[in-house]
Amino acid sequence: MLDQMKETARALGANGKGILAADESIGTIGKRFSHHGVENNDMNRRKFRQMLLMAPDIEKYISGVILFEESLYQQCDDGTPFVKLLQQRGIEVGIKVDTGVVEIPGTCGETSTTGLDGLAQRCASYQKLGARFAKWRSVLRIDERNGCPSALAIQDNAWCLARFAAVCQSKGLTPLIEPDILIDGSHSIERCSKVTEKVLAAVFKALIDNHVCIEAIVLLPNMVRPGSESIQPFAPLDVAEYTVRTLMRVVPPAVSTICFLSGGQSEDEATNHLHAIVKKAPRDRPWALTFSFGRALQSSALKAWGGEDHKLKAAAEVFTERAKLNSEAAKGVR
Ligand code: 13P
Repeated sequence: MLDQMKETARALGANGKGILAADESIGTIGKRFSHHGVENNDMNRRKFRQMLLMAPDIEKYISGVILFEESLYQQCDDGTPFVKLLQQRGIEVGIKVDTGVVEIPGTCGETSTTGLDGLAQRCASYQKLGARFAKWRSVLRIDERNGCPSALAIQDNAWCLARFAAVCQSKGLTPLIEPDILIDGSHSIERCSKVTEKVLAAVFKALIDNHVCIEAIVLLPNMVRPGSESIQPFAPLDVAEYTVRTLMRVVPPAVSTICFLSGGQSEDEATNHLHAIVKKAPRDRPWALTFSFGRALQSSALKAWGGEDHKLKAAAEVFTERAKLNSEAAKGVR
């Protein structure tokens, strides 16, 4: 079972392919839909996700898809289950297993991620349904004036990620560990790099303490960049330098695959930053560097669709093109 989980971790980052995060909760996808006047109902969510999963040629660029639980049971128009469609295309099936965040009392609105209750049973049933990996997202916020992220938030989130990872591995699912340090705020790139170092160091300490096999995980980190409200000028090369330095300092060489989040960056920004990071990283780096993008893979496709059936084909083409651009970025080609 361990060999299989290690192989899944490697496969997710192989050949310049990356992950499509199509695992938005019902509330989150509703927000995305609302920007384009699309009603958030079962039919529209199924239609949109079917369009993504059936898009032409995506198996050349996409190694795995993270699904939200309802999609594990959904089917294409012809009755083929989504899971089977992905398997037929040689794309690994993943599942989001956390159940969202709750506030940590006594902090400035910092959060902990929930979903550990009953996780072992859920993982076992997802594995039977065909899932090979699972994702858990922790959220941390940089706010220097209020001392965020606090030591408590860092510790709590690292521990929850590690508990999740240990449970997943006990049920044969490769854990995707997502400590997402939000882009929100006016912090500098230097601050982001310090915080990212601290958070990742705490995460790896917790993973080791929880007996997690490091070769059988995938890390999903944020890119290191200034906050979205920062006035600090920066170029893709700065993002690349700080991100690579941070990873070199704290990610063990036993990790085979690192997939960046897009974290609210525009599609072009995320692709350009990924390309710069890959070019900057040493050729003999121990890990594959690629993407696990949600928003930065889906935004234009969602806009192109806009809830209209006759635009589904065009939207799928837009999605494939974006997946291709990101795959090229992950290969360092342009
Ligand atoms: P974003 O790329 O929208 O930050 O989402 C990524 C994600 O959820 C990876 O699992």
